[in-house]
Amino acid sequence: MPPQITILPDAQAIAEDAARLWMDLAQAAITQHERFTVALAGGSTPKGLYARLAQPPHRDDAIWANTHIFWGDERMVPPDQPGSNYHMAHETLLSHVALSPDHIHPIPTDVEPGRAAALYERTIQAGFGLEAGAFPRFDLVLLGMGNDGHTASLFPGSFVLDEQNALVMSPYVDHLDAHRITLTLPVINAAANVLFLVTGDNKAATLRDVLAGTKSLPAQLVTPAQGRVTWLLDEAAAAHLP
Ligand code: 6PG
Repeated sequence: MPPQITILPDAQAIAEDAARLWMDLAQAAITQHERFTVALAGGSTPKGLYARLAQPPHRDDAIWANTHIFWGDERMVPPDQPGSNYHMAHETLLSHVALSPDHIHPIPTDVEPGRAAALYERTIQAGFGLEAGAFPRFDLVLLGMGNDGHTASLFPGSFVLDEQNALVMSPYVDHLDAHRITLTLPVINAAANVLFLVTGDNKAATLRDVLAGTKSLPAQLVTPAQGRVTWLLDEAAAAHLP
């Protein structure tokens, strides 16, 4: 299924559209299998979406009782630090809606990276009732894209891009001089829905390359076999698209 690409005037319009899509997907998933599982993106772009979901009417919707929150990736910083993806989501969304605490599944960052990845893999397997070797089918995986074409914490040239079995890995990212914990591509590609949120002119050239397939970049490898990919772009990020 080809990706659905929507170009909107600005980040606020993207937040509005993305929030409506989130609610539609949540209601459909809960109707179909009594719960909505979502893997959150970090970084700055999703903040607008999370803040919009934390406002009426979405904030007060019944879906939150059946929503299960996971993360697509995490930085190895404490959950109360500004660099933490958990912290950003907690401040902008999770502390504002009626989520059950046992439906929130943060990536552990108080252990060494390899153990954090192993623990989080077990959290996912338990959360989805998976046999060893099976992949979770998230109802929604939210992703951003860096101007180097990375997504989640899957960076260009990373050995993690070739991983076909593990659900979660803990690559050391040279240019960040830090480890990251990230879902692997097989997990992202098992999703029912993937939503990329990309804004800003600094991503326009990379976005053209990713959507045109002219380079091999991590974001291009997100091709869920039985899933739908939606790109919500602002005009600045879409400036180089045909
Ligand atoms: C992270 C994200 C990462 C992010 C991109 C884009 O942990 O940083 O998961 O993949 O989505 O780097 O970040 P911005 O939204 O800040 O541009």
